[in-house]
Amino acid sequence: MARIFILRIGHRVFRDSRVTTHVCLTARALGADGVIIADREDKVVESTIRDVTNRFGGPFDVQSGKPWKQAIREWRAIGGRIVHLTAYGLPLPKMLPEILDAKGDVLVIVGSEKMPGEIFKVADWNVSVTNQPMSEVAALAIFLDWFRQHREFEHEFSKAQVQIVPSRSGKKIQQLPPE
Ligand SMILES: C[S@@+](CC[C@H](N)C(=O)[O-])C[C@H]1O[C@@H](n2cnc3c(N)ncnc32)[C@H](O)[C@@H]1O
Repeated sequence: MARIFILRIGHRVFRDSRVTTHVCLTARALGADGVIIADREDKVVESTIRDVTNRFGGPFDVQSGKPWKQAIREWRAIGGRIVHLTAYGLPLPKMLPEILDAKGDVLVIVGSEKMPGEIFKVADWNVSVTNQPMSEVAALAIFLDWFRQHREFEHEFSKAQVQIVPSRSGKKIQQLPPE
């Protein structure tokens, strides 16, 4: 299966830490392989996500501080494709068949505030999840749901210490033996 990473651009430490944490949690829960938080190191977000991954399973990679241009260069060097989520792009339902046909690994770029103009040019696809402004977390969730063709409930997490037991009422959590 194609690997999928998220490149989070424009993260501001403290101010965006909560939303960037939600970008990472959403990416992990919906089956992405990792998040690169560009340009600024945020060890607090990294350690929160590693802690969730240790407890609930992975693999899921999180790193911060790499310049966005370098992240894109490295992604290109391994033959990966690039999707930029933006309200200004072409609609997801129209673009998805082309993205799925291309097959390779996919880097999904999401912004925080204003995105550098070059991003629109380096992306293979500028994709909108409606042409209305919305949260990057919501746009990413919908993109991943469509990209994985609604199979996120089948995603398996390995080396989990615990797992949630679905329940009609209350909170049930089960300890798992080491794998
Ligand atoms: C809260 S928005 C801020 C965008 C900023 N005002 C700008 O003009 O670049 C943050 C990110 O959410 C994503 N986003 C927002 N609305 C979107 C939409 N309708 N479709 C796809 N992505 C969207 C984009 O990745 C954007 O960079």
